[in-house]
Amino acid sequence: MTKYQLVATSAMGLESIVAEEVKSLGYETKVENGKVYFEGDETAIARCNLWLRVADRVKIVVAQFPANTFDQLFESTKKIEWERFLPVDAAFPVSGKSVKSKLFSVPDCQAIVKKAIVERMKSHYKRLGFLDESGATYKIEVSILKDLATITIDTSGAGLHKRGYRQTQGEAPLKETLAAALVKISRWSPNRPFVDLFCGSGTIPLEAAMIGQNIAPGYNREFISEDWSWFKSKIWDDARDEAESLANYDQELEIIGSDIDHRMISIAEANAIEAGFGDLIKFKQMQATDFTTRLTDGVIVSNPPYGERIGEKEIIERVIKDLGTVMKNYPTWSVYMLSSMENFEEHYGKKATKKRKLFNGFIRTDLYQFWGQKSKREE
Ligand SMILES: C[S@@+](CC[C@H](N)C(=O)[O-])C[C@H]1O[C@@H](n2cnc3c(N)ncnc32)[C@H](O)[C@@H]1O
Repeated sequence: MTKYQLVATSAMGLESIVAEEVKSLGYETKVENGKVYFEGDETAIARCNLWLRVADRVKIVVAQFPANTFDQLFESTKKIEWERFLPVDAAFPVSGKSVKSKLFSVPDCQAIVKKAIVERMKSHYKRLGFLDESGATYKIEVSILKDLATITIDTSGAGLHKRGYRQTQGEAPLKETLAAALVKISRWSPNRPFVDLFCGSGTIPLEAAMIGQNIAPGYNREFISEDWSWFKSKIWDDARDEAESLANYDQELEIIGSDIDHRMISIAEANAIEAGFGDLIKFKQMQATDFTTRLTDGVIVSNPPYGERIGEKEIIERVIKDLGTVMKNYPTWSVYMLSSMENFEEHYGKKATKKRKLFNGFIRTDLYQFWGQKSKREE
């Protein structure tokens, strides 16, 4: 099978986790800002789309070349053997971005790349008129960074955070990819209790359940490259069969999500049912500071409100302070809180064992990690 240069794109700060995921699927990686490069065939494309929990997309890197002028961009794009990827009826929208480069006009770069591909295709397929683009879609991106152009084709389609379980969302849902990253950073293992005290629409508990039962996050969705003529459906069938055989539906899990807002609990329950975890995850309406348990060695991973709305700040600061006091009763529990709140540790009343800078969309946050006493399992 043909080997491709591939890239798994990721949110800033999550590259190392994506790289770990790619490596655990058996591929060597090279990491750059927001990008994890690796080499693989069509099976790799299918498996990575199905299994990567933290990556945004999997793309084929078609070419990389210097692009100081529009001529250079045009000629180098035209030289690419597009017929290897695009059949005569391919629909190929071109998107673009440009950072710190002479060719800064993105619409112009997109138009040049489109024109170069059209010329190449017309000459290869011997078409005089226009290409009707009535077939499957191949989303092409030209990305120019410091005058180096990278041309990619997206194999995922909808971003990989779209797992297919989200029915309705709360006000500030966490992206599924970030939620999965938090669970991974917490080093939670399925034999330990898992709690989200501010669960909203349930994203973190749902991602934990999928990790706990080793369920491929992309199992219930489709990918744009499944429609491509040269991508054999058997490869997808085999990758899905492999995912099905690796899922451990018998793994018992103790996962609880709670939220002060009963409407959120209804949404979280609906999402859990959609994901097939209706009986597995327990959701309940509860004030976070009412947390009580007889279990030990548990993990709490939450994304409490950041207190950005007027009047909310003092309330949430109080909740975090009271929660810090409550958690003193549970020294073996580890607590992971993603927050943009200033002086979070001061409010919580304890210095974090470790902090990790992460972006929740455009909001700069920290993941405050308070490791439990007996648990030697965390990073
Ligand atoms: C940022 S949202 C969490 C979003 C969630 N991670 C998701 O993906 O949908 C914060 C949640 O905390 C809840 N909340 C606010 N104050 C709370 C409290 N004192 N106790 C429990 N939940 C609270 C809100 O109702 C809201 O759903």
